[in-house]
Amino acid sequence: MEIQLWRNMLCPYELAVQELIVKFEHLIEEHRQKDLYSPIESVTGRVKSVSSILEKMQRKHIPIERMEEEVEDIAGVRIICQFEEDIGKVAALIKKRSDMTVKSEKDYLRHIKQSGYRSYHLIIYYTVETTDGPKKLQAEIQIRTMAMNFWATVEHSLQYKYKGDMPAHVADRLIRSADAIIALDREMSLVRSEIIDAQNSSTLQSNIVRDILLCIENLYKISNKREVMKIQDEFLRVFKTKDLRQLERFHRQLDIIAEGYRAQAIR
Ligand code: GTP
Ligand code: MG
Repeated sequence: MEIQLWRNMLCPYELAVQELIVKFEHLIEEHRQKDLYSPIESVTGRVKSVSSILEKMQRKHIPIERMEEEVEDIAGVRIICQFEEDIGKVAALIKKRSDMTVKSEKDYLRHIKQSGYRSYHLIIYYTVETTDGPKKLQAEIQIRTMAMNFWATVEHSLQYKYKGDMPAHVADRLIRSADAIIALDREMSLVRSEIIDAQNSSTLQSNIVRDILLCIENLYKISNKREVMKIQDEFLRVFKTKDLRQLERFHRQLDIIAEGYRAQAIR
């Protein structure tokens, strides 16, 4: 194929990768805005190089006219999660989207590869708009934890270095470090619920503080200023205790006071 034809062929894949990255990064943003924990930590993507495409076609005996159908990872996106539990959540998010259709899945978490490789792969159909109209193409989405990604990156470099002829002692080390990665992911999972708890109580705290300040502001308009200053001092004292329960209790009491004023105003 001529060089220009390769460029034309790859062009919509470039667009697909860019669009997919934007969309997944926006999912992170959406979670942040809603004060929710994001199962996606980061996203990267690439279009397969012509040399890798050719190498794969040779290896798998794929004729040029079957390339776009059979080389499923011309567009590739990698989603990195903090915790193993997040992987299934991300896969579920993808499955329920209307702009991506899952063609196939490979679960290398349940079925760890002989190399020790773990990751969750989806092949999706995704449509981009080109000057020639819509083009439906395939993309590979790899979902894995930061720890899995660390291992896969190192292992990939070593594979490349030894070109399929890895010395036994290196392969052994990799298998052992894959086990260490499994243990690490498991340990981190135990911390996950604590991290999410911490995040939730921080959201709760900022919501309570917002409500309290709104209430104080309203009281300031309709009641004795000196009383309101006292309430504000009390709020600052309670806030400094860093005790969420006390803050909640203060909030409830303030509500009752505000309710009293509202009742007076009606009369
Ligand atoms: P490839 O021809 O390598 O693309 O394999 P495949 O099309 O049969 O699909 P598979 O799911 O096995 O691999 C898809 C991709 O996952 C690869 O291109 C790599 O990026 C990654 N991968 C698969 N196996 C390994 C592995 O043992 N080590 C590392 N580092 N990456 C792997
Ligand atoms: Mg592949």
